[in-house]
Amino acid sequence: MKAHFERIIHTEAAVRAAVRRLARRLSRDYAGKTPVVVGILKGGAYFLVPLTQAMAVPLEIEFVRASSYGNKQTSSGRVRRDRDPGFPVKGRHVLLVDDILDTGRTLSVFHRAFERLGAASVRSAVLFDKPAARQVPYEADYPGLPVPDVWLTGCGLDSDGLYRNCPFVGVLKDADVVKPAAEDQGQPRA
Ligand code: PRP
Repeated sequence: MKAHFERIIHTEAAVRAAVRRLARRLSRDYAGKTPVVVGILKGGAYFLVPLTQAMAVPLEIEFVRASSYGNKQTSSGRVRRDRDPGFPVKGRHVLLVDDILDTGRTLSVFHRAFERLGAASVRSAVLFDKPAARQVPYEADYPGLPVPDVWLTGCGLDSDGLYRNCPFVGVLKDADVVKPAAEDQGQPRA
């Protein structure tokens, strides 16, 4: 699929190394605990699986669903999410896992929601961090790789639903990028 990309930002090897690095830190920090690792669908699924496979602690996995981009390149500014996570949270150590921290809205909304539900602790791990796009104050406890403020695809990040399965992250050739609707002006996601 590399032919569809004009630029690779992080190679598959760099992504794998970042996942291993984060998993080592998480294994140390969650030693003696049984965290519930919560992937934020859909993109977070691609990060959650290799991350948890590399973590050397017993853990549970769950998923919640959120969407703020639809098929656009700009955040709608509203995070549509599951209200009820559908699993017990009270007293649990929750680790939120997502592919990218961009404006910060998605993770800050879930972070507050899990705290309100009585989690013993809430932390977050992201594969990619785009600090230049932040619109709400939120930093991940476990940031992976920094990325520039350009539209990115791969490693869970999609373009009109496609290319999430690319094992590297990069910038699609112009012809492959879904153009945002004219009325949709806002902060680019990636
Ligand atoms: C993307 C990404 C993160 C979120 C980050 O999800 O997977 O969940 O946006 O952006 P933010 O920091 O600006 O909130 P999206 O809403 O596109 O849903 P998807 O994962 O199903 O594609």
